[in-house]
Amino acid sequence: MPVILEKKYENDISLAVWQVTESHDELQAMLPSEILTDAELAAIRHLQKQTEFFCSRLVIKYLANSLGIKYLGIKKDEFGKPYLVGSNWQMSITHTSNYVAAVMHPNEALGMDMEKPSEKLKRIEHKFLSDLERIEAEGDIEKLCIYWSAKEALYKLYGKRKVIFNENLFVFPFEKGQNKISGRLKINEIDEKYNIYVEHIDGYILVVCGSVPQV
Ligand SMILES: CC(C)(COP(=O)(O)OP(=O)(O)OC[C@H]1O[C@@H](n2cnc3c(N)ncnc32)[C@H](O)[C@@H]1OP(=O)(O)O)[C@@H](O)C(=O)NCCC(=O)NCCS
Repeated sequence: MPVILEKKYENDISLAVWQVTESHDELQAMLPSEILTDAELAAIRHLQKQTEFFCSRLVIKYLANSLGIKYLGIKKDEFGKPYLVGSNWQMSITHTSNYVAAVMHPNEALGMDMEKPSEKLKRIEHKFLSDLERIEAEGDIEKLCIYWSAKEALYKLYGKRKVIFNENLFVFPFEKGQNKISGRLKINEIDEKYNIYVEHIDGYILVVCGSVPQV
């Protein structure tokens, strides 16, 4: 699992991106048995899902080690949002067919996503963009991918269901090539602005979403 990108953003957000080069069995063998229980594994039927499950744990274990945090496993809350066992550190994970990436923060919620720009986004843009965002996106698939990934990242940061992408999640106007943009989560009593960091990796767009640092 070569690490192809590891960096720290402002406000103590740590990122690691791994290229997945190992088979299902090789990945499984890399996880200690006290972290990967038979019961957990038996609950996942699909081999591909098992592979993703191993990758999530391995990349978070790697990041935790490099941050000096003891890794005791990952669990999910009632909405499917992952959390680190026995720690206040917050995390988010994303998978593609050949990469897995994770971010961690000492105490603030995070979100991330990694996607390839695709024509499909043009067909569904009305579902996830507000009218103003559609005008700004100009039907450009790279911009649409940034909007989509940023909203998936905001969704993961929030972590709960019943989010309407074109009513509760917003991305402020940006130019292609900008590596820091911003977004807003407006739902129920929450109305919060977030920083969104954008990376381009091997034809993918990776976005990380976290709190705006206090000055
Ligand atoms: C859950 C969801 C965000 C996952 O995104 P994805 O692009 O399919 O997959 P990714 O690989 O990027 O992310 C998967 C990771 O998301 C995380 N995740 C799942 N549910 C989550 C939640 N409620 N909150 C935070 N993170 C979550 C998990 O860590 C998972 O990885 P793991 O199972 O290995 O731990 C996505 O399937 C989803 O439900 N999106 C919202 C759907 C929606 O309302 N769309 C409407 C648009 S118009």
